[in-house]
Amino acid sequence: MAARRPSTAVFLVGFMGAGKTSVGQSLAQRLNWSFEDLDDRIVRVSGRTVAEIFRDSGELAFRQAERTALEQVLQELQTGAVRIVALGGGAFAQAQNHQSIQASGIPTVFLDASLAELWRRCVQQSDTKRPLQTSQDTFRDIYSYRLRYYQTASLRMDTTEQNVEAIAAEIAETLGLRKMPRKKTTQRIE
Ligand code: S3P
Repeated sequence: MAARRPSTAVFLVGFMGAGKTSVGQSLAQRLNWSFEDLDDRIVRVSGRTVAEIFRDSGELAFRQAERTALEQVLQELQTGAVRIVALGGGAFAQAQNHQSIQASGIPTVFLDASLAELWRRCVQQSDTKRPLQTSQDTFRDIYSYRLRYYQTASLRMDTTEQNVEAIAAEIAETLGLRKMPRKKTTQRIE
């Protein structure tokens, strides 16, 4: 049997407040990989914040921008980019996105926590990029709907009362992710 090539990309999925960005940054640093937050690409390309897109164009427009951004990222990963990618909470729960990600064979990690903990973190962060964080009831309903998608991830990690570095270490170990050699910087002679 041919040996499987080690992964060079990982998607972090899960609900708002799951810690996708902080765990992603820590994991990328540990492996010397690059890190990308998909929402940052959407903001860069559109020249508007997530909140502005939702407010001025609606959720559907945001989902279209998200889909385009994801397709671009998938192409880059398929042509060799070595990267940890944190997806916005809704990205993996869109049927088309879910299908493209699963078809790519790139491992996905579902970062999870109790609803109370996810809500607490979101309130604490009071991040303006979360227009869907309205009431606790809506928060719970959206989470319940998305769970069926999140649960198809290659790995689930409970982040409740865990520190970011420990979670990153466990993901690297479980998925057998390889550290990249640091790029040599050429020293200039003054
Ligand atoms: C969303 C989550 C946000 C952002 C947008 C929509 C969602 O990202 O993409 O507000 O649908 O759950 P985070 O999960 O990083 O908060």
